[in-house]
Amino acid sequence: MRVLVTGAAGFYGSNFVNVLLGDDKVESIVGLDSYMHAEDFPIDPFNIIEDKNAFAKKFTLLKQDYRNLTAKTIDNLNVDAIVHYAALVSIPESMDKPLEYFDVNEYGVFKLTQELLKSKTQPFLVFASSPEVYGDPVYVPMDVNHSTRPKSTYAVTKLAGESHIKVMYLWYKYPICVIRNFNTYGENQSSTYRGYPAVVPAFITRALLNEPIVVHNDGKQTRDLTYVKDAVRAYAEAIHRKNSVNGMTLNIGTGIDTSIKELAEKIKKLTNSKSKIIFEKGRPADLPRLVADIKLTTEVLGWAPKFTLEQGLETAIAWYRKVLPQLQTAVGKRQ
Ligand SMILES: NC(=O)c1ccc[n+]([C@@H]2O[C@H](COP(=O)([O-])OP(=O)(O)OC[C@H]3O[C@@H](n4cnc5c(N)ncnc54)[C@H](O)[C@@H]3O)[C@@H](O)[C@H]2O)c1
Repeated sequence: MRVLVTGAAGFYGSNFVNVLLGDDKVESIVGLDSYMHAEDFPIDPFNIIEDKNAFAKKFTLLKQDYRNLTAKTIDNLNVDAIVHYAALVSIPESMDKPLEYFDVNEYGVFKLTQELLKSKTQPFLVFASSPEVYGDPVYVPMDVNHSTRPKSTYAVTKLAGESHIKVMYLWYKYPICVIRNFNTYGENQSSTYRGYPAVVPAFITRALLNEPIVVHNDGKQTRDLTYVKDAVRAYAEAIHRKNSVNGMTLNIGTGIDTSIKELAEKIKKLTNSKSKIIFEKGRPADLPRLVADIKLTTEVLGWAPKFTLEQGLETAIAWYRKVLPQLQTAVGKRQ
């Protein structure tokens, strides 16, 4: 099998490439990325690759914008599956730069669907979506039939992306699968992200530098924190089980939620940090709770997370500790 991974130099993408390199059923991987993070993430995104030999033999990098992919270039790549991770991923940034988010996350996905429909090879498309599409929980854990009432531009663009992709399946029987990843953390996640870092890398780097850890509001809001190695394993299962997952939407998470306050305390303890935990007013439409129902995913993918939060955090912390001197120039730029 040949696989195209968009956003391959990003957090999910690079970890997914790492897993695919050890997969005997995958003969080659094309990684596509615009490298929009180059300044913000001042280290080689492929620093986490375990099998350097396989990387040299099986992996090709295309530095380009995924929005320029055409039916012809897709056919020339001749891949069996595309895993689409390339996106802008910050909720608050999407409120400050809505047009950019619309363009990359929604219009870009729409364009990709049109090119794929015109292609001769018609590769299986797996789309990385987000639980942010659910909005405030009506019940927990949230299964994939939970109502979708997005509360941010990011969430709207992800839901729209899902919808454009589902139309391909519903109207044309084009093979697709949508995967909603609950909050993922681990090696290679940017600790600055264009000035809008995700919570886990922000807390870890602050803790390692003994700087204050800033918790929004009272910190009682919860998230289902999933370790990246577990998450990308689910994607690897999905590309091999096209017939079982075709047309489906799946959740990836652990089914366990943790409050942001508890997360800050855990990270402080695991890093042996002197940081103070401080509370500040947060964003107005923050979701109070996100926790995944993963029964369907386990049933169709035979997948379940293996790492506990402590195990995942310890491994991630060890990585941030190692790369901190390199990351520090970017850490300094964080607001
Ligand atoms: N990390 C999470 O917790 C999480 C949760 C839910 C959903 N997701 C989704 O998973 C996917 C991957 O997220 P991530 O955390 O790895 O983000 P990331 O920012 O680390 O990776 C995204 C990559 O896409 C690239 N990219 C952005 N726009 C591009 C474009 N137009 N053309 C080509 N490349 C482009 C970036 O350079 C980056 O390397 C996204 O679609 C995101 O919405 C992530």
